[in-house]
Amino acid sequence: MTSFVSVISLLLSFSLAIFSDAASFQKFPVPGKRSGPEAFAFDSTGKGFYTGVSGGKIFKYLPGKGYVDFGYITVSSKSQWCDGALGIAYMSKCGRPAGIAFNNKTGELYVADAPLGLHVIPSGGGYAKKIADSADGKPFLFLDGLDVDPTTGVVYFTSFSSKFSPGDVLKAVASKDASGKLFKYDPSKRVVTVLLEGLSGPAGCAVSSDGSFVLVSQFTKSNIKRYWIKGSKAGTSEDFTNAVSNPDNIKRIGSSGNFWVASVVNTATGPTNPSAVKINSDGRVLQTISVKDKFGDTLVSEVNEFEGRLYVGTLSGPFAGIIDL
Ligand SMILES: *[C@@H]1O[C@H](CO)[C@@H](O)[C@H](O)[C@H]1NC(C)=O
Repeated sequence: MTSFVSVISLLLSFSLAIFSDAASFQKFPVPGKRSGPEAFAFDSTGKGFYTGVSGGKIFKYLPGKGYVDFGYITVSSKSQWCDGALGIAYMSKCGRPAGIAFNNKTGELYVADAPLGLHVIPSGGGYAKKIADSADGKPFLFLDGLDVDPTTGVVYFTSFSSKFSPGDVLKAVASKDASGKLFKYDPSKRVVTVLLEGLSGPAGCAVSSDGSFVLVSQFTKSNIKRYWIKGSKAGTSEDFTNAVSNPDNIKRIGSSGNFWVASVVNTATGPTNPSAVKINSDGRVLQTISVKDKFGDTLVSEVNEFEGRLYVGTLSGPFAGIIDL
């Protein structure tokens, strides 16, 4: 009797698991020939999502309507020509948005464009305005992660490398390049400051919900650093965790104090085992969700939680993925 009941409950939970899995994952293919929804942002209206793709465009996804144009990095970004800009081709003409985040007080969308520098798209959308493409007279070369401090509006962003351009990302990783930087941009002073140098592929950054620190991923070193913004350790940095393999973008989870990190296991033949790793403010791993069955061995660049759903982005894939949590 016991075994009969347990077999039934096993079968039941098995079929429920299959059902919930099928119901919980959706693909949102990006339109045209564009690809690589690298990162996500959400506005205060709470409808849909924003994502930047190849060819220098930022799309807004509206439920029931699909993707609509929201922003353009350059005047060319709108063209058919940039629509066909596959991978890294024409990147310096069209742009290639990487990290994005809203200042929710002003409605402006800040963009770390990989080849073209720090930009801002005005509230409501349109053409981006370039803020800076260098700091201390040195070109950024390869911007990647970006976050806005929710308390002050200060923008934190990273360059993956100061020696290799975005087209040479594989070379940067293979040679264990450690010339990446963490910057801040203070909109009230209109100044870009270098905060950290000598980073190993800082692909992403995220400010804590109380604005006391910013986390910076070191993709190539499988490490996350913490840079203190406030308190007695302000201006200093320390190792935060080595528990996440090849961390890419880091996103704060509302005001919970926790973060999601996009992770892969990088091998000589490329990335494998893409997953979403949830960590707390002590760097402890709370949860790991494998997305290999949905994304194969694609480099998953960001996992971003918003209203009970996990948005999964990739550097070169054709769709954004959404998982119901
Ligand atoms: C702005 O609001 C959205 C939606 O609530 C949120 O996902 C995002 O993290 C906020 N941006 C910042 C910089 O706090």
